[in-house]
Amino acid sequence: MMQTTDAAPAMEAAVPATPGPLLDIEALSKSFGGVRALNDVSFCLGRGEILGLIGPNGSGKTTSFNVLTGLYRPDGGKVLFDGGNITGNAPQAVYRAGIARTFQRSRLCLELSIFDNIMVGNHARLNQGLIFNLFNRKAFRLEVESALEEATALAASFSPFLAERMFAPVGALPMIERRRIEICRALISRPKLLLLDEPSAGMTHEETHQLMDDILAVRDRQGGLSIIIIEHEMGVIERVSDSCVVLNYGEKIAEGSYQDVASDRQVQEAYLGSA
Ligand SMILES: Nc1ncnc2c1ncn2[C@@H]1O[C@H](COP(=O)(O)OP(=O)(O)OP(=O)(O)O)[C@@H](O)[C@H]1O
Ligand SMILES: [Mg+2]
Repeated sequence: MMQTTDAAPAMEAAVPATPGPLLDIEALSKSFGGVRALNDVSFCLGRGEILGLIGPNGSGKTTSFNVLTGLYRPDGGKVLFDGGNITGNAPQAVYRAGIARTFQRSRLCLELSIFDNIMVGNHARLNQGLIFNLFNRKAFRLEVESALEEATALAASFSPFLAERMFAPVGALPMIERRRIEICRALISRPKLLLLDEPSAGMTHEETHQLMDDILAVRDRQGGLSIIIIEHEMGVIERVSDSCVVLNYGEKIAEGSYQDVASDRQVQEAYLGSA
């Protein structure tokens, strides 16, 4: 059960449905022409864990999210999630299974409000269809009111500043608030697994650490939520992740605790640039 605070949203905890790891990636491969973006990559993620996915530019981090979420069909391998095989499933099916993500490049609609941007992530749970809404105005109004309440509570759990401006356009907000909205958009679908692709990109050191506090707090609020975070800054990964996987040229070259991977010679050569 999720603990609620005054400001925290009344969201359901991600309840474990089956025993074992939440996510089990087995021998995943994906090539683009001659480029092996992922080559035989396997790793697991436990419930409630935060996994740091790291590696140099072009090492396959975003591709692994794209394959996981059904944007790309893998050439080989399996994705087992919450007791089911979701390999090659369409993005909508993966999302309904409980995986939500943010993107490396922001996908906010800057001229739309905070509320609208968050609700984009809720489309699968809302929406009875146009005809239903036309003839059931009261039900429609109640649905929108309850969606606003939920989105506002979620925004408040990140930042009271956001919750007070639910109808303000996103374009005028500072970068950290925009990032928070992107995370709220992913969380409004009540996922079991949250994928964050370089959430700190373009932010100052201080903003990055504030955002990491948010991410840790989200995990604490929702006991069962698991998170994979792609991040370049090793200090950030050290702080937030329970375990790490390191990719290089599409291959997994190390995994384990931050200390394990940071002291691994192959990782130092590939990523840290020092032997
Ligand atoms: N849609 C695509 N078409 C062709 N090549 C692609 C495509 N997506 C990724 N690649 C290639 O696959 C490799 C892995 O790319 P990916 O974006 O997964 O790397 P990354 O680890 O996320 O890098 P970065 O840190 O720069 O975001 C790169 O060589 C990239 O050029
Ligand atoms: Mg990337």
